[in-house]
Amino acid sequence: MNFNLSEEHLMIQEAARDFANNELLEGVIERDENQKFPTEQVKKMGELGFLGMMVDPKYGGGGMDTISYVLAMEEISKIDASASVVMSVNNSLVCWGLEKYGTEAQKEKYLVPLATGEVIGAFCLSEPEAGSDATSQKTTAIDKGDYYLLNGTKNWITNGGNASIYLVIAQTDIEKGHKGINVLIVEKGTDGFIVGPKENKLGIRGSDTHSLMFTDVKVPKENRIGEDGFGFKFAMKTLAGGRIGIAAQALGIASGAYELALKYSKERKSFGKPICEHQAIAFKLADMATEIDAARLLCLKAAADKDENKNYDQSSAMAKLYAAEMAMRTTTEAVQIHGGYGFVKEYHVERMMRDAKITQIYEGTSEIQKIVISRNVLRD
Ligand code: CAA
Repeated sequence: MNFNLSEEHLMIQEAARDFANNELLEGVIERDENQKFPTEQVKKMGELGFLGMMVDPKYGGGGMDTISYVLAMEEISKIDASASVVMSVNNSLVCWGLEKYGTEAQKEKYLVPLATGEVIGAFCLSEPEAGSDATSQKTTAIDKGDYYLLNGTKNWITNGGNASIYLVIAQTDIEKGHKGINVLIVEKGTDGFIVGPKENKLGIRGSDTHSLMFTDVKVPKENRIGEDGFGFKFAMKTLAGGRIGIAAQALGIASGAYELALKYSKERKSFGKPICEHQAIAFKLADMATEIDAARLLCLKAAADKDENKNYDQSSAMAKLYAAEMAMRTTTEAVQIHGGYGFVKEYHVERMMRDAKITQIYEGTSEIQKIVISRNVLRD
């Protein structure tokens, strides 16, 4: 077993770190406060290849492995989790499924602009009454011969306002349950498709989360991905990869907060010495460092499983469960180590604590990860 990263992996990690420090750090507090989408920064991410990292170069992607993606996600999330969620959704939830299951025509038309970052995409599964219980889709896609008629509402859609291409999961045949669900590619601007107002969130406030309304939207048949009824399995397979990205995001938020807390603890003095020399603080740092390393190993294990074409349902759920819970603990401790300074915006850690919370919720709550893990464990 080799725990060393390759030269290529180290280069990608460094490139992501440089990008985050040079392009994302400045203005991150203001973007969070004003809920400002990082438009310019996302454009640069596209130019640098961070939006289609794993896509085959013939479709405009970087042709990299999932390990590279995890390394880049960690570095970018250390500085700005609002930017990294845009990257995660575009790479894992939109490009991956299009490349794996799309037709050649769909790839030419939609994957190429998504992978190059010319446009960004959104993945639309959640509904007002179908979050964790994803089979209970109320949005309908009725088969009308050469098109589907789409009606319904989607909730909590990341990139909802800024995306141009939307993968929409909808029920075609209620009698067939999850086997009657399809996934359709819907373009922004299609008649009857309305983007609702932006949500005012606790964390990742720079990213845009919207509800979407579809009223008699005509979607051409050629925009369905996969066979009729493949939509639910498409969503599950896509989310398994997405969970690796969110696990890496949680890891990055935690390691960013840890690095700030470590630095602060060496500078700040109390009772005549740096606070890191008090065991109360030193033990917190020890726990944080240990848990971050454990989460990183789980993330890399899930990524390696995916790269080696092994089943990664369980390892991705484990990585996400552990990394998200760890990120909440670690960022809370980072605020505690900063004391009163941790409670104000300019020290960054309060934002990281707020950003960490969503990693326990989206792409399946921690409880959903436990369902996935326990089902796999019990099946073995
Ligand atoms: N790969 C392939 N097929 C899978 C699968 C996987 N990983 N997981 C399940 N399936 C299949 C099952 O085999 C089954 O098919 P068969 O009947 O043919 O065997 C079918 O899908 C239904 O599976 P279940 O019976 O297990 O379904 P369930 O109703 O019990 O639900 C669940 C399972 C794991 C709870 C699932 O509903 C789930 O993951 N829910 C959470 C949804 C979620 O993560 N939402 C997040 C929204 S997206 C988001 O947050 C994005 C963003 O904006 C950042």
